[in-house]
Amino acid sequence: MTRDWSSLMMTEAQREALLKSWQARTEQALQHYLPEETTTPARLHQAMRYAVLNGGKRIRPLLSYASAYALGVEAEKIDAAACAVELIHAYSLVHDDLPAMDDDDLRRGKPTCHKVFGDAEAILAGDALQSLAFHLLAHSLPDTIPAAQQLQMVNELAVASGSRGMAGGQSIDLNAVGKALNIAELENMHIHKTGALIRASVKLGALCSPAIDNAVLKKLDHFAKCIGLAFQIRDDILDVEGDTKTLGKPQGSDIARNKPTYPALLGLDDAHRMADELYQDALDSLSAFGDSADPLKALSRYIVQREY
Ligand code: IPE
Ligand code: IPE
Ligand code: MG
Ligand code: MG
Ligand code: MG
Repeated sequence: MTRDWSSLMMTEAQREALLKSWQARTEQALQHYLPEETTTPARLHQAMRYAVLNGGKRIRPLLSYASAYALGVEAEKIDAAACAVELIHAYSLVHDDLPAMDDDDLRRGKPTCHKVFGDAEAILAGDALQSLAFHLLAHSLPDTIPAAQQLQMVNELAVASGSRGMAGGQSIDLNAVGKALNIAELENMHIHKTGALIRASVKLGALCSPAIDNAVLKKLDHFAKCIGLAFQIRDDILDVEGDTKTLGKPQGSDIARNKPTYPALLGLDDAHRMADELYQDALDSLSAFGDSADPLKALSRYIVQREY
């Protein structure tokens, strides 16, 4: 039976329950896909599990589920893709916190991976999480997704993670410390270090649909581009306005390291305004989807209003 998703009206409570159910799916699937702590090499597997199963918000997997939902694809088809994106994200955080990068001691309210396991094991855990992400795309996607689309998903995630995506953005970040970037340069940095993976989350969710239309994909991609940039602007704002306990990571880390951020360049008011404008632009690009885009809209609101 085909379900008419466009006429599916949801109450706020139903939408919350749906998002919670996707979060629970993500936790379960991550538990399942990650090697057991006792499996050799145990210390590496412990570090990998520590880095992933430590209370992340799971925004990227949620975006994958919500994007697929907008296209009427069942949640059980999305687990592997959603986890692949989260594994890349977790790896990026482990490396981002290393002494050679942001040198942070707290992540998700706990000591960072390198504080518990040492720098060398943390580097390896990041490497292995990245490999596991691609293993999932090669091995664990449902066979309802055409082979050409599966290959496209591997390519999207590879580009979003590499030198033309997240790793490239991180390099721009490191080389920009203490420098005065202009707004275009700052946007370019954010689009790469954070935006690329958020865009990949939305795209991979959509590509789990057995037949995806290019025009639809383009609309979703514009949505993801806006919300990806808004996400990092909010992260920069929280570094100023948040508190360490709520954030679960050190407040003021950007200021202490003299990082170029939106509040540093534009001031807090304009940074807020910019995040709001991007949020509105993101919502506009979802207008053609009707109620099936409700979860994407709710996640967008959360992204620009979140407190951690
Ligand atoms: C933090 O991402 C790192 C950035 C890309 C800004 P999140 O805020 O999604 O972190 P977790 O996964 O919930 O810990
Ligand atoms: C990190 O940006 C982006 C990636 C990990 C790719 P930040 O350095 O601002 O993230 P937080 O604030 O440490 O979470
Ligand atoms: Mg950083
Ligand atoms: Mg950091
Ligand atoms: Mg930050």
